[in-house]
Amino acid sequence: MRVFITGATGFIGAHLVPELLQAGHHVIGLCRSEEGAKKLAQAGAEPFFGDVNDLSRLRAGALSADGVIHTAFNHDFARVRQHSEEDRAVIEALGEALTGSGKPLIVTSGTGLVERRLGEDCVIETDTHAGSAKTPRAATEEAANAILAKNVHVIVMRLPQVHDTHHQGRIAHHIRLAKEKGYVAYIGDGQNRLPAVHVADAVRLFRVALEHGRPGGFYHAVAEEGVAMREIAQVIGTGLRLPVESITADAASSYFGVLAGLASLDLAASGDLTRQELGWTPTGPSLLSDLRQMEWASH
Ligand SMILES: NC(=O)c1ccc[n+]([C@@H]2O[C@H](COP(=O)([O-])OP(=O)(O)OC[C@H]3O[C@@H](n4cnc5c(N)ncnc54)[C@H](OP(=O)(O)O)[C@@H]3O)[C@@H](O)[C@H]2O)c1
Repeated sequence: MRVFITGATGFIGAHLVPELLQAGHHVIGLCRSEEGAKKLAQAGAEPFFGDVNDLSRLRAGALSADGVIHTAFNHDFARVRQHSEEDRAVIEALGEALTGSGKPLIVTSGTGLVERRLGEDCVIETDTHAGSAKTPRAATEEAANAILAKNVHVIVMRLPQVHDTHHQGRIAHHIRLAKEKGYVAYIGDGQNRLPAVHVADAVRLFRVALEHGRPGGFYHAVAEEGVAMREIAQVIGTGLRLPVESITADAASSYFGVLAGLASLDLAASGDLTRQELGWTPTGPSLLSDLRQMEWASH
């Protein structure tokens, strides 16, 4: 299959490219710099120059392929509403190019955007996203639902914290804050949880969903339903040789700043329905194992 990938030069995209190539697919990777193009060519992919917000260029990329995986996103969280609305326009443009073709389009969302039903221990695939009025990033899933209604074979991939020994997303902020404050904090009893998946397992699920996913499929790339924030704090404390302390919810904003709300949430998510439907079994290292293997000396 000829697969057009946006975000091909990002953390997940850089692992997705070899995963698809090894499975025999031809990969066309969107890039916006010479450096990105060079990396893609070295990996064996075909570079396709363009900005993800250049919608006519984007449609051309989609039209040249048999399937599309959209992972590009601007993570400048100071302007999350603007970037989320741009993502809505991107998904609508990709949908326009693929309407009625039966070609799969995977868009990337997060398990953290899903609203947990009352009494549920963790969110599941059939739970719906919060609305974008409340949670701007939900524009992605709203756009996916809109193009599904227009006969596009769209699939939503919801990611938890994706990790390897170099990247752990929001945990990098916990590490930075611990170094600034001189101790590692967690809130209350620290039993609120973060779901996780190793990047190799995540990209394998993208490939399987591309090959076998159904239109309108919502999949959770979850290997670990929830790792307690207290355990994460303890590994950070050991790595940085700093004390680990519980703080009250009231003290959270003075330690975590804008991240206080996120740091207090229990974000546990299940991937059971995804595993059953797509026969996906994660095998990679756990989040805590990758954290322990980090290059702590360079921090
Ligand atoms: N990593 C996680 O733990 C996690 C968890 C939940 C959801 N997600 C979602 O998964 C997706 C991929 O995440 P990631 O961790 O791989 O992100 P990332 O490392 O920040 O990569 C972002 C990618 O988007 C590209 N991009 C951004 N703006 C662009 C633009 N205007 N034009 C063209 N390309 C542009 C970047 O290109 P350059 O290389 O040129 O900058 C890069 O390839 C995102 O939608 C993210 O929100 C990730």
